Amino acid sequence: MASTTDSYYVLNDGSKIPAIAFGTGTALFNQDCTKAIKFAIKNNFTHLDGAQVYGNEKWLGKGIAESGKTRDQLYIVTKLHPKLEVPPGKTLAEHVKESLKISIKTLFPDSKNLDDENPDEHVDLFLVHAPPRPFDPTNETHRELWKAMEAVKTAKLATSIGVSNFTVDDLEAIKPGFDPTSGITLEVVPSVNQIELHPYVWKTAAPIVEYCLSRGIRPAAYGGLIPLGRARALAPAPDSDDPGPVEAVLATIIIKDGPLTATPAQVLTKWLLQKGAIVVTTTSKSDDTAAKRLDESLKAPSLLDLTAEQIKEIDGAAGEEIRRKYMGHIFTEWDNKFKP
Ligand SMILES: NC(=O)c1ccc[n+]([C@@H]2O[C@H](COP(=O)([O-])OP(=O)(O)OC[C@H]3O[C@@H](n4cnc5c(N)ncnc54)[C@H](OP(=O)(O)O)[C@@H]3O)[C@@H](O)[C@H]2O)c1
Repeated sequence: MASTTDSYYVLNDGSKIPAIAFGTGTALFNQDCTKAIKFAIKNNFTHLDGAQVYGNEKWLGKGIAESGKTRDQLYIVTKLHPKLEVPPGKTLAEHVKESLKISIKTLFPDSKNLDDENPDEHVDLFLVHAPPRPFDPTNETHRELWKAMEAVKTAKLATSIGVSNFTVDDLEAIKPGFDPTSGITLEVVPSVNQIELHPYVWKTAAPIVEYCLSRGIRPAAYGGLIPLGRARALAPAPDSDDPGPVEAVLATIIIKDGPLTATPAQVLTKWLLQKGAIVVTTTSKSDDTAAKRLDESLKAPSLLDLTAEQIKEIDGAAGEEIRRKYMGHIFTEWDNKFKP
């Protein structure tokens, strides 16, 4: 179990990543998120999680530009569009590099030179948003894609590269070294694997987290606060308004911070941090409640650690229930009829 008073992790390539991130997916999907980004930065967030598919990189960039922060004060992430539509006449490697250049140009419109030798802008972390499906048993599809990701790191368009929604099999498929079936040699271990992570999916996620940590891949959690409220909409019988078993368990977990008691959101965030995960959260609002929520997330690392007993209780809080919101086509543990 990790100790989590640090607010940064050091990735396997030596770069530092803030442990708590503000995301522009979910509630901000396809939205002008300029105000939300400025608000998050004003409230001390420096790690901003974007994606090509969120359709709002332009506004993420605008929020960054209007925040008053310098580029080196911020940590910017984007993700390769999960629909890998390679234009005719292009190789996958060309497509991946060009799509990242478009993202960088969208995020940082003042950028003038994204040439391989010495680009004047970059993202801090570029992720494959989702693994290729159907799974190619030769691993060639995975390896070709990861080779293209290695090239954008070499070109300094991304300081670090990683993946998202990868299972252990997906990660095994892109292991460094020569693969005789595909003939592709890979060199870089992903720095991050961003996955849905909360007690309702812990049974599936635990082996992935363990595998990642054993190989120096930093897990990142999204959807971590799903057990608070949003789990209702994911109930096996969604109309029942059933809060599920986790909320009640969280209410019994007490962490004291001087005279204050940690909120359930902080307990969940602390649990994720003690699993060794980066935490990607968000708020769609920019009012006092939102400021309080953001502050709670950023303060979670400095709270007293949960005890081993408390962690065990949260690990088992969902019992046999699975409530997954995202990527049901990859994580197929849920009976199809209940998939969102
Ligand atoms: N890689 C992927 O496939 C993937 C998939 C999904 C998400 N993500 C990333 O992860 C980010 C976060 O995802 P998520 O929205 O599911 O994260 P989350 O942290 O589980 O949920 C955030 C939601 O919880 C509420 N909230 C925030 N702080 C709270 C607090 N202290 N107490 C109670 N409720 C609180 C917010 O509601 P209000 O809006 O009402 O404040 C917000 O909508 C996304 O924006 C995206 O960047 C990645």
